[in-house]
Amino acid sequence: MNRFGFEEFGGPEVFEVIEAEQPAPKPGQVLIQVLGFGMNPYDRTLRTGAAAKSRPLPFPIVPGTDVMGRIVALGDEVHDFELGDIVMNYRPIGGYSEYVVASTSKIVKKPTALSYLDATALPQVGVAAYNILHYLLQAVPGKTIAIEGASGGVGAVLIQLAKFLKLNVIATASSKNETYLRQMGADEIGLYDQEDVGAKFADRADYVVNAINGGHDNGAGVQMIKADGHYVTVAYADVDLSSKPNVTHSQLGPDKSYSTKDALNFLVDVAIKWGLTVRVAASEPFTLAGVQAGQALLDTHHEAGKIVVMQDHKVIKPVRKDINHL
Ligand SMILES: NC(=O)c1ccc[n+]([C@@H]2O[C@H](COP(=O)([O-])OP(=O)(O)OC[C@H]3O[C@@H](n4cnc5c(N)ncnc54)[C@H](OP(=O)(O)O)[C@@H]3O)[C@@H](O)[C@H]2O)c1
Repeated sequence: MNRFGFEEFGGPEVFEVIEAEQPAPKPGQVLIQVLGFGMNPYDRTLRTGAAAKSRPLPFPIVPGTDVMGRIVALGDEVHDFELGDIVMNYRPIGGYSEYVVASTSKIVKKPTALSYLDATALPQVGVAAYNILHYLLQAVPGKTIAIEGASGGVGAVLIQLAKFLKLNVIATASSKNETYLRQMGADEIGLYDQEDVGAKFADRADYVVNAINGGHDNGAGVQMIKADGHYVTVAYADVDLSSKPNVTHSQLGPDKSYSTKDALNFLVDVAIKWGLTVRVAASEPFTLAGVQAGQALLDTHHEAGKIVVMQDHKVIKPVRKDINHL
């Protein structure tokens, strides 16, 4: 089987096709034929080497936290899934691949409420948004949350989950995304390229989530947070809270107490009960050229939304559940 990875750090061109043996599922795992995988800003930091210090990995590196695919083999002791199930998988790495194995604690069945594209784009940004609301903020209905970078992958899912949890939402992004923020459900909108959003919403937010790619907000988040509020950074960015000494600051990051299964189940529940969508900026073909094109887009301030790599629709078509398709 083929994987897409790299043997050296650099630009999109360092990606190559890497042949590997198809993995076999261990007990409690399934083998997934990958029908689509998502690309995230983090994958770019793996490719450029920016993440090498915080997470040293041996070459070849195959990025990919977001997978949507079909179960084609079951390990022992798997009871809740069947051959042919279409699932979403959130994984630490390795999703840019034709096949992956995944523990059943890291997968969930794709509901019909989510399209194939939505399901491919959702895992990392959805799990991040869930962890922010449930673990970091323990968000309470009626509170006001200001989301910076609200047009992005994490930000737009956060708006929708926050409305599901009955929070008031202030959303900030550039003016080209104003309509999109409204469609996602934002109650109030700040356009950082047209107005001083920090001054507009000064001391209004119980919670601020800085979900800007790279985290640089020129201090708007600190202005918006209430004196005793809770400020969350999503990118690893410094924040000067000296003017608001009683504000709690949390950094989203790996934490063993997070439950991927709870997060994925919650996202499915919201999708079914409320509706959940992920904007896809580009859908690239499941080829080396497609991967390189997607990585080139990650290097730019591209159109709002996620970048995904999808198999041809003929591969995605439904299959019989009573035969092993290997
Ligand atoms: N710690 C974790 O576990 C974790 C998990 C997921 C993501 N992340 C990090 O979180 C960040 C966001 O990820 P993402 O996938 O959501 O990125 P993204 O899709 O690129 O979205 C970022 C958004 O920020 C907006 N933006 C840029 N400058 C802004 C400003 N001054 N004020 C308000 N909005 C601004 C952009 O909107 P406009 O085009 O409208 O400017 C863009 O849509 C990345 O740095 C990523 O690496 C961390």
